[in-house]
Amino acid sequence: MTRAEQPTASPPAPDDALVADSRERAVRALLRRPQVKRLWSAQLVGGVGDVLALLVLVLLALQASVVEQAFGGGYRGAAFAVATVFGVRILATLLFGAVLLGPLTSLTSQDGPLDRRWTMVGADGLRAALLIVAPLWIDWTPGNALALLLVTAFVAGVAERFWTVSREGAAPALLPGPPPEGASIRPLPDHLDALRRLSLRTGFVAIPLAALALVAAALCNNLLGTGIEWFGEHQAALASYVAAGLFAASLSVVTFLELPGARTPRPRSPLEGLRRPRHAAGPDKGRTGALPLLVFAGASVAGAVAAAVAVSVLHAKDLGGGPVLFGLMVGALTGGVVVGIRTAPALLPSLSRRRMLALTLAFTGLALLAAGLVPDVTSVLLILALAGAGAGMAANIAHALLDQETEEQRRSRVTDHLHAVVRVYVGLGAVVAPVFAAAIGPHRLENGKFVFAHGGAAFTLMLVGALLLPVAALVLAKVDDRSGVPLRQDLRDALLGGDDPGPTPAGTGFFIALEGGDGAGKSTQAEALADWIREKGHEVVLTREPGATPVGKRLRSILLDVSSAGLSHRAEALLYAADRAEHVDTVVRPALERGAVVISDRYIDSSVAYQGAGRDLSPTEIARINRWATAGLVPNLTVLLDVAPETARERFTEAPDRLESEPAEFHARVRSGFLTLAAADPGRYLVVDAGQEPEAVTTVIRHRLDRVLPLSEAEIAAREEARRKAEEEARRKAEEEAARKAEEERLERERQEQLAKLRAEEEERKRRELEEAQRREAERQAEEARLRAEEARRRAEEERQRLLAEEKARAEEEARLPGDRLRR
Ligand code: TYD
Repeated sequence: MTRAEQPTASPPAPDDALVADSRERAVRALLRRPQVKRLWSAQLVGGVGDVLALLVLVLLALQASVVEQAFGGGYRGAAFAVATVFGVRILATLLFGAVLLGPLTSLTSQDGPLDRRWTMVGADGLRAALLIVAPLWIDWTPGNALALLLVTAFVAGVAERFWTVSREGAAPALLPGPPPEGASIRPLPDHLDALRRLSLRTGFVAIPLAALALVAAALCNNLLGTGIEWFGEHQAALASYVAAGLFAASLSVVTFLELPGARTPRPRSPLEGLRRPRHAAGPDKGRTGALPLLVFAGASVAGAVAAAVAVSVLHAKDLGGGPVLFGLMVGALTGGVVVGIRTAPALLPSLSRRRMLALTLAFTGLALLAAGLVPDVTSVLLILALAGAGAGMAANIAHALLDQETEEQRRSRVTDHLHAVVRVYVGLGAVVAPVFAAAIGPHRLENGKFVFAHGGAAFTLMLVGALLLPVAALVLAKVDDRSGVPLRQDLRDALLGGDDPGPTPAGTGFFIALEGGDGAGKSTQAEALADWIREKGHEVVLTREPGATPVGKRLRSILLDVSSAGLSHRAEALLYAADRAEHVDTVVRPALERGAVVISDRYIDSSVAYQGAGRDLSPTEIARINRWATAGLVPNLTVLLDVAPETARERFTEAPDRLESEPAEFHARVRSGFLTLAAADPGRYLVVDAGQEPEAVTTVIRHRLDRVLPLSEAEIAAREEARRKAEEEARRKAEEEAARKAEEERLERERQEQLAKLRAEEEERKRRELEEAQRREAERQAEEARLRAEEARRRAEEERQRLLAEEKARAEEEARLPGDRLRR
């Protein structure tokens, strides 16, 4: 199984593939396909245009509401105008999802009458046209401009849906087909999942980009305004034209796109999955029951950001700014979110993710509160960027925790649920926040020198921020996985945890660690897997911790003997680490260097979970000690058998050892310690619900191993043999087919020849008959002619006879006449 011997078509070493996040690579691989990349760039450009258009319409509606004194005019009227733009846009999306989605999907499906490409081109063209005229309504139709702008927002919203549904219908057909069997030993990337990831990400990144575009366009607009009066009066005009230009750009990309005809995926409404997923036992609450609260927390933070974005146009106005400040505020908030999402996994990775979620929620809340309080523009922008970053982190962590709460098979359903709830909160936030701002209105408090003057938007920001604080408290109170350990201590440990030595390569073998609480069924699974992997032709070394070496056995007896009760926690941690050091040095590493598959029943994670999360020691420090003890040897795959401690306890058959005798809270902390480790590095972990039947657990693990385990030499040979056989078979079939064809052709030829011969004979026969008939006719005619000639001759003879007779008679007459005369 050395790398040099792997088939040349193999991708890079499997352990590299595992360490890097395979999902990330799947997304990047998609973008290397030219057609996908084109469609994606159209989505990005059109998406930026769409968000920019919405921001522009908000600005224009605000302007129109002031001119027209809409909704009673003043601060309230302006705030209502903003709320209606968002409301109309959401209405368009909802209406589309509820009413138009089904019919539209059949219209634009493979054999529907609407061509996807031309639908997209039409939607882009329409929106470009709408955005070209939008800034003119205020001049053209005084009194009706706001209404027309709302219609514009609605139509643009529907056009966006048409575009998106067409794209979603077309995109899957551009994906690569499944790779040929055995061509890859890397996990087969799930293309559809990658596509969804990509389009979600693109949709999101479009928001800060649009804000940036707004800032740039508004600055140029101001510059133009100094020379051209019209631009001075229409501060959002240039941004509107930029949006139109972006739609035109998307249109031109889409026009030249080759979209293969493909079956339409099932139509998806934006609210699909809103109801909490259920399984046989009732509503899905997740592995540890935290699912509903995590969804709520994630959606709340998203709703808070949407609310902040929705009131920022009013807040910008209150702070004396215009479109530029509005763009900067939206950019700071949403750009912060993007940064937060990206940095969340790397931020204090050793801190419990649940605690981190509570902290980031609280941080976001406090930042929004401060953003409402502070009157200084620069500080507001900075604070909004921080609020955005906090929100991004909270969202990312909530998502990662949700992944932990669910089995791999159920994950997409839970994700759908999260996204649907998030959409609802975002919609509510965007509409309700400006309405709130309208209801509160501006207030001014004066107390001597101290002046406290704030608009309704500022109060709304504070309120939204304040509302996030109880959510954070709820997370900490209800789903904390480190209860008993003070948050302060955890935080300090996480902050002080230094850099760790990087993992060292594990030779050419494959290292699998099985982890989980007591009674999770690790030994059973380890044996089942060892058998299965051996059958695949690998050398398998099945080992365990503690106690796989002679020294380890002595350490094990010290560690597990109930008589060691009261052993200091640090000593316990060091003894496990000592056992591990010996184990890695004398068993694991040599086997990996030989190229064997090593399955270890427990590894470092057990120490981090038991001695770190379970006891009061710092998980970071435990991890560090163990990295030193093992010289940084990291498993290629860690299978975490997750089971509720109560379920596991029922499986104990022998008297509990020293650790098994620990109280229930200890085991609960151990469990979440394992889950936290898994959440930090999803690419390297497989979390399996160990409450199921052992066979079901084995199947799940085998499924994953099938994708990540490198091929053994025997397997490579077997596959090569199978491939050769298949080729041979194909060749044989082809030859047989060719022979059969040749025979058929020969028979056909013969048949044709026979036919031709028969035809020739028939013709010959006919020709002869004809000749015969002609000959007979000629004879008949000759006979007739002969008879006629005979007749003529006979007649001539008769004539001659008659003439002769007449002659003779006349002669006789004459002879008789002279005698008479004489006689007379
Ligand atoms: P294990 O051999 O899995 O127990 P059993 O023989 O009962 O199946 O592990 C022994 C105990 O040691 C178990 O309760 C967990 C504990 N342990 C730690 O606390 N830290 C460690 O690093 C390891 C490897 C085990």
